Amino acid sequence: MQKRLKIGHRGAKNHVAENTIESIEKALEFGVDGIEIDVHKCASGELVVFHDFTLDRMTNASGEIGKYTLKELKSFKIENRFLIPTLQEVLDVIDKKCMLNIELKGKDTAAETCKIVSHYIENKGWTNDPFLISSFQEKQLEEVFKINKNLRLGVLTKANVADAMEFAKTINAYALHPNYTLLSKDNVKLAQKEGYKVMTWTVNDDESIKRMTSYGVDAIISDNPDRL
Ligand code: G3P
Ligand code: MG
Repeated sequence: MQKRLKIGHRGAKNHVAENTIESIEKALEFGVDGIEIDVHKCASGELVVFHDFTLDRMTNASGEIGKYTLKELKSFKIENRFLIPTLQEVLDVIDKKCMLNIELKGKDTAAETCKIVSHYIENKGWTNDPFLISSFQEKQLEEVFKINKNLRLGVLTKANVADAMEFAKTINAYALHPNYTLLSKDNVKLAQKEGYKVMTWTVNDDESIKRMTSYGVDAIISDNPDRL
């Protein structure tokens, strides 16, 4: 059996402000196998690494992230000190040390993600395998599949594993990414029998980590990657 992957959620969210370079460095310090981040497209077209659709919870600014240019976003601060990184900045910090799960969170992020990932594969010594592109948005996953059949895709769900699996078939997905509360030993086994990796989130407490481990999931995505 392949080993279970330890994946830091938004870097190491419970240790350093989520989706920042410093949070990613912390996850790397913990020796993770992978890191999950969220991407949005900003008004000047670049992809930035950020979870929410608005700046209010995480920064000293407010309003929709997609309405600001990269230059404007770079003038805002997270916890008075951290900056919002671009996808390239995150890739340069990871520098092939672990896999990267890019969650397409904001709209219209599929094409630009494919472009950046291809650039790192063609010019910076990365291969396809360390990249895993996931989303709750079926349209965006379909778009990635159309652009590049070699990229690994993950279908996120917080509703229904069977439905996610049905959709996964249509885009030849690599993995299902169900919220951990949806999982049982049986549906994990079934998904794996159908050929999918099961990568579950956000599993933070020791008891749930133990339960997911006993179900035989392929990866655990956690705000506390040090506990995995
Ligand atoms: O990719 C797993 C998880 O990050 C999905 O939910 O809201 O934390 O992006 P969210
Ligand atoms: Mg996410």
